[in-house]
Amino acid sequence: MLSIDAYRAVFVEYLEEKTYNNKPTSLYQPINYILKLGGKRLRPLLTLMTTDIFAGDHKHALDAALAIEVFHNFSLIHDDIMDDAPLRRGQATVHEKWDLNTGILSGDAMLILSYQLFESYEHPIFKDLITLFSKTALEVCEGQQYDIDFETRDDVTITEYLKMIEYKTSVLVAAAMKMGAIIAKAEIEDQNGIYEFGRNLGIAFQLQDDFLDAFGDPKTFGKQVGGDIIENKKTYLYLKALKGSNKKQATQLTDLFSIQPASSEEKVTIVKQLFETTGAANATKRAIKTYTEKAFSVLDTLAIDESKKMMLQKFGESLMNRTV
Ligand code: IPE
Ligand code: IPE
Ligand code: MG
Ligand code: MG
Ligand code: MG
Repeated sequence: MLSIDAYRAVFVEYLEEKTYNNKPTSLYQPINYILKLGGKRLRPLLTLMTTDIFAGDHKHALDAALAIEVFHNFSLIHDDIMDDAPLRRGQATVHEKWDLNTGILSGDAMLILSYQLFESYEHPIFKDLITLFSKTALEVCEGQQYDIDFETRDDVTITEYLKMIEYKTSVLVAAAMKMGAIIAKAEIEDQNGIYEFGRNLGIAFQLQDDFLDAFGDPKTFGKQVGGDIIENKKTYLYLKALKGSNKKQATQLTDLFSIQPASSEEKVTIVKQLFETTGAANATKRAIKTYTEKAFSVLDTLAIDESKKMMLQKFGESLMNRTV
């Protein structure tokens, strides 16, 4: 086993070798741009780490890890168009730096490149990976569509929200880990167990993403702070704030979430205050902890050493304390 940082370094080195130098450059430049902008490399490092956890060789997992990261970055390009986001990892988003059409087509090409990366796997691993990948990718689309649909709905429930984030975010984290188990030829029970671990961790991860979107430090967060508020996203923060509101606060909140004012600064300030005074900010922090602990409780069911469980637990804990 390597350290988390070492898995990330192995992955980044592999990614650097893989620059897409094909023509037309107007298609491939944005692809290299987004892939090399950095990011936490969370999903691919989980694929590599999980392969070793189940006694495989992480080097065999590099193409699957890269496929996951290319897919993730494709989804970010399109997500930033859909969310009208100006900033990604502290830099201009692809559709801002180039234009909308570039974002659409470079994104499409990345989706195809991610599929191509599985070509290096033999039967039956190839089939298992591709089946999981297609199912996951479609779920991500479903989650993304719910996210957009919820912007203009005023009756979204917490249950619906949780389903939405499970699909748009957590299934990819779960699949990234299950792929490691598939490549390591782990038992089906362990493949499903690690998926369940990743699914719960992924839910905690998106709850934290929502929290940071409102309360992150603009100097380090790398995305537009308050972006979800500006876009009327029905996040856990919003839904809990509505539940914890008195009549006056509820009216204020729903009114603010039915408009997109030209100057959003005041809206963001007021909504953030409501998130705090209604107890929604603390409720979100508690939910992050609950889902992280749910993930940890799955570890007991896995047929792996205690030291490996500790590693996964430490990783989960580090995610809870992240600021980006
Ligand atoms: C951003 O994912 C999109 C979400 C699903 C929350 P990350 O927070 O993993 O983004 P990077 O890759 O580290 O920039
Ligand atoms: C993104 O959710 C999920 C996917 C990209 C599939 P968000 O819209 O919350 O992600 P960020 O905050 O822009 O990274
Ligand atoms: Mg977004
Ligand atoms: Mg989004
Ligand atoms: Mg977000």
